[in-house]
Amino acid sequence: MKSVRMMRGKFASLYGGEARIFRAPGRVNLIGGHVDYNEGWVLPIAIDRYCYVLARVRDDRVLRIHSEEFDETLEVVLNAPRGDTHHWSGYARGVVWSLEQAGVNTSGADLLIASEVPVGSGLSSSAAVEVATAFALLGVSGQKMERTALARACQRAENEFVGMRCGIMDQLAACYGQQGHALWIDCRTLDVETVALDESQVRVVVANTMVKHALAGSEYNVRRQECEEAVRRIRESKPAVRALRDVTWAEIEELAASWPENIRRRARHVTSEIARVQAAVEALRKSNFQEMGRLMAASHASLDADYQVTSPELNTMMRLARELPGCLGARMTGGGFGGCTVNLVSTAEVEEFAGELARRYRDATGVGAAILICRASDGAIEVS
Ligand code: GLA
Repeated sequence: MKSVRMMRGKFASLYGGEARIFRAPGRVNLIGGHVDYNEGWVLPIAIDRYCYVLARVRDDRVLRIHSEEFDETLEVVLNAPRGDTHHWSGYARGVVWSLEQAGVNTSGADLLIASEVPVGSGLSSSAAVEVATAFALLGVSGQKMERTALARACQRAENEFVGMRCGIMDQLAACYGQQGHALWIDCRTLDVETVALDESQVRVVVANTMVKHALAGSEYNVRRQECEEAVRRIRESKPAVRALRDVTWAEIEELAASWPENIRRRARHVTSEIARVQAAVEALRKSNFQEMGRLMAASHASLDADYQVTSPELNTMMRLARELPGCLGARMTGGGFGGCTVNLVSTAEVEEFAGELARRYRDATGVGAAILICRASDGAIEVS
């Protein structure tokens, strides 16, 4: 965990003087994989691992951004041409651009970005940077923006500036996280409802395979196109359909029988996953963790066989977890192709589970996994 005192010290040594501190959480999705951009429902929690942005306003149009992780400082003039959008600073610069597009002009500022959300592992480090940066820039510029609009602006930064066609789940989770609760998000209406997670009974454990998802960006965009292709085909006979959210598998199964295999599988995953999310909300509300675990396993199997976004390491981590005492459910989380699994574990056994999973994963793969016991946390806030 980051120490506020050390971050303040770092800011002073970089820029001199004091800063305000803002933070946004990473997230882990309990169920609803690759459903958000199909306008379905998802069930993430914001986690107690944060991206911090220390910020101080400037009286010119200059933005200085330092990344602790990359140990580099970049200086840009607001409204300047885009430059390299794939550079680490693309997320922060994309947020400035996107806020401007939304009609919000922020001031020049000195920023220090310090994140404890692991990059490229499916915990949404990018949305955490975007949302924390947006909060910081708005805060020091004396501007306000409603949280849903802010989440949309951050998603737009990632879609149109960085070039990753992510859905809206991560940014909404970083904005609306609530301590002790999962978030039931309707990705069409953007309504967010909270569902209590009784942490005295169950804890969420994230297991990082330490394999970075190199394919994630390109294959992610391909999956989106495949879903769009499924919708195009459905619309030939059902023109009212706008997204896979509008149909069940039973309604399209016959139609899909003549489709290319990949398109048929993608549609089967998305439609069945949407049904699983709705069942999961019911299960959590009744504290029926057995049923929740069953749904998580079915979600993983569908992401593996039909959506084809898992990896051998994710499958190993998932299999090892399910053999351990206290494990109620496990599945991959995030975009896939590496990154993390999410596990629902009985609170009484959580410490032992984490230690044993790390040991068995090392025995099986020779790799040291990072196992994080998480708490469901609040969304973006000013810390100081
Ligand atoms: C990534 C994206 C999200 C979502 C997940 C898959 O994390 O950023 O919008 O699509 O993948 O569920």
